[in-house]
Amino acid sequence: MDNLSLIIAYRKSFDGAARVASSGSKLSLRNPLTNSSFFLTAIGKAEDAQVILENCLDKDTVYKFLRPWLGQGLFIAPLGLWKNHRRVLLPVFHNKVVEEYLQIISDQANILLERLAEESGKREFDVLRYITACTLDVVFDGRIKTVLDMLFGREIDFTDEQLREHIDSITIAGNDTTALVIAYTLVLLGIHQDAQERVFEEQQSIFKNSKQGATKEDLRCMNYLERVIKESMRLYTVVPIIARNVDKEIYLPHSKVTIPVGVGAVVGAFAIHRSVDEWGSNANEFDPDRFLPERSDNRHPAAFIPFSYGSRNCIGRNFGMLIMKSIISSIIRTYKIEANEVGPLKIEVLLFPIRGHQVKITKR
Ligand code: HEM
Repeated sequence: MDNLSLIIAYRKSFDGAARVASSGSKLSLRNPLTNSSFFLTAIGKAEDAQVILENCLDKDTVYKFLRPWLGQGLFIAPLGLWKNHRRVLLPVFHNKVVEEYLQIISDQANILLERLAEESGKREFDVLRYITACTLDVVFDGRIKTVLDMLFGREIDFTDEQLREHIDSITIAGNDTTALVIAYTLVLLGIHQDAQERVFEEQQSIFKNSKQGATKEDLRCMNYLERVIKESMRLYTVVPIIARNVDKEIYLPHSKVTIPVGVGAVVGAFAIHRSVDEWGSNANEFDPDRFLPERSDNRHPAAFIPFSYGSRNCIGRNFGMLIMKSIISSIIRTYKIEANEVGPLKIEVLLFPIRGHQVKITKR
């Protein structure tokens, strides 16, 4: 089977897994390589997700379709290699290093604002392609230079192939995810004008009328925007399912079942994020203040897992938050956004709205 057919076949498997991930049952899928059936367990409860994500660090074979591109890059690296490489890559994502990229982010945000001007005052358009162009430049420019700088001369001698695979993994894992969260957040702010007003007021209290890029102190003051971004990641979880390989027999405390070795476990992050048990009867409603510290105290630690959970979680989560806050801050200070709805969704590994991220923008 060629790579393209393999990718299409696996995407279909992901669609199946997605449907089951929201119901929490056992799922049989067809392996497109061998045409034989294989089993996945769908995890729909935070308590069970915590156990899987803490204990099963090996990626499931459903991610095999990424191998032709990502080889042994961090995202799908086999366990032995992953442990070593994650440790060496960790300093690249340290807060202090990441903060050095604020200037790159703000320069790219300015280019984005100029490009968006061509849509200002006009009809609805899909904002994602503008955002993706911007985040690609940020992730590529920022990360790639640092990765190369920091990895040369470390205790592991990376081969050229390994460096390429890590850089591709970081670019792929970091770019579309960040762009999608920004796009969903803009649509949600376009729908919920009251929340947009609060975000704008917070921005004005930080910047007055300045169009300067955000500093790390500015970003720290964007508490309401941070809650909005979290609520956007909860309702529209861009990595809606996380698939791990069960490499040792494991007991799920909520479901009270033991999963045998060799079965895949699909954690339905999207389903957990909309679970009434975890989030209350208004789980499907947009309410950023549910992330106020006083309303988060009793929440299960794995009830909110947009960046996954445990030691194989997202290595770029702080960098991602920084990019998202900074870019949304620039956009909201310059443009007023209107939107009607997110509409129907589809999963192609990541979560996309079928009709795109439609918004209308007008210069403030
Ligand atoms: C909002 C933005 C982002 C989201 C929602 C996100 C989500 C995730 C999730 C859910 C995983 C873990 C999958 C699993 O548990 O199996 C992951 C892993 C990863 N992410 Fe992110 N991510 C984001 C941004 C970034 C950024 C900005 C970078 C880098 C520049 C990045 C690089 C990575 C890498 C390299 C991994 C693999 C980590 C490992 O296996 O050790 N991500 N991400």
